[in-house]
Amino acid sequence: MNLPPHLSVQDGHLLIGRHDLVALAHEYGTPLYVTDEERICDNYQRYRNALASLYPKSKVLYAAKANGNVSLLRALGNLGAGADVFSSGELELALSAGMRPGDLLFNGSSKSPSDLNLAVAHGVTVSVDSLDELHQLDAAAKAAGKNARVSFRVNPALHIPTHPKIATGVASSKFGIAHEKILPAYREAIACSNVVPVGVHCHIGSQILEIEPFVKATEVMVRVAKELTGIGVALEFVDLGGGLGIPYHHDTDPRPTPEEYARAVVPVFLEGITDAGISPELWVEPGRYLVADSSVLLTRVNSVKFGHKNFANVDAGFNLLIRPTMYNSYHEVIVANKASSPAEETYSIAGPICETGDILAADRLLPAVEAGDIIAVLDTGAYGFSMASQYNCRPRSAEVLVHGEDKALMRIRETTKDVTSTMVTPPWQQQR
Ligand code: LLP
Repeated sequence: MNLPPHLSVQDGHLLIGRHDLVALAHEYGTPLYVTDEERICDNYQRYRNALASLYPKSKVLYAAKANGNVSLLRALGNLGAGADVFSSGELELALSAGMRPGDLLFNGSSKSPSDLNLAVAHGVTVSVDSLDELHQLDAAAKAAGKNARVSFRVNPALHIPTHPKIATGVASSKFGIAHEKILPAYREAIACSNVVPVGVHCHIGSQILEIEPFVKATEVMVRVAKELTGIGVALEFVDLGGGLGIPYHHDTDPRPTPEEYARAVVPVFLEGITDAGISPELWVEPGRYLVADSSVLLTRVNSVKFGHKNFANVDAGFNLLIRPTMYNSYHEVIVANKASSPAEETYSIAGPICETGDILAADRLLPAVEAGDIIAVLDTGAYGFSMASQYNCRPRSAEVLVHGEDKALMRIRETTKDVTSTMVTPPWQQQR
């Protein structure tokens, strides 16, 4: 199997950077997420350089939802990244990681009054998703005696080749404002007393392995940008969102690169803004591309069962990695302590959760698996821990970060007590 440069095999063990993953599993326990900080930094630099080499006014906002550990936000912030934040929590995380309010965009189709107040208080630009929200934000800014910086999220209504649950730029999606209604929306914003339109935003979907949809979206966005310029909006940025996919099937999936993305999108962008007579910043919001391949999920085999199907029953399930269950997604798996052994038998890697759908990987040809083996589930850095739950009263795992020779926890393992610590006894039960 093709491995990215930060993963390798030595003496039959799988390594991340310079660290033996089997040793890490034994030292920190399982289940365990392990992330390579340098890989994330490399991914970021590559993405940024691909765009900035063609258009210097390009800016990468990391989509914090992909992996919200503050250590990763700090690492990316130190390199100059901003962030796409999708909740008050993510906004606070990004600020606590040292990112500047001006480098954040507050996204989302359903923001609460307190979300809007927080954005106004910190002067974070809001990507507004409805006229209702626009007027609420205007009122919030007025009450605070401030002006809110806004963009609208455009829904370009395209065909997006990805899993339907993560296609957002399609006409039926809950996100954004239909592009034909976007001019009236900006006119309404201009008429508001306390909002200032400064940008325009779209995000068409996630895990997209073709470049063409991004080009189509860019065509829509520069058309909109020209129209907005025509009605007097001074655009500081055009944000094309995230969505570039990664090859989860290492040997067979297409591998679109940031360079291909930039070579296809930037000329369309440049032509459009030149035609409009403007030079806004070009913002993008990758999540998956920056972090997905940086992490592995290590899970220990509790037992093996042979029958109609063979199962390796492991200690991580969809409580820690919901992607296979939710999107039928594929992740490569490697028996980390038998990484050089020949494949012998087909197994499904089954989690400990009380549901038939709790299969991390189906029907994989692997070396003979036995209790105590450590299975590495690859490409779990995006939407892995960030979508984890405590289902079945299972504490969430620890997370280890490696950097060169260094390794350290970036999140401690929860205990059952942590899971129950927010439960309180209603008064009528206390009397019993
Ligand atoms: N910008 C916005 C407004 C977003 O909603 C997202 C992702 C991104 C950027 C980053 O997209 P990316 O570059 O990571 O594709 N849980 C799903 C993915 C959901 C994506 C949600 N929004 C999965 O595991 O595949």
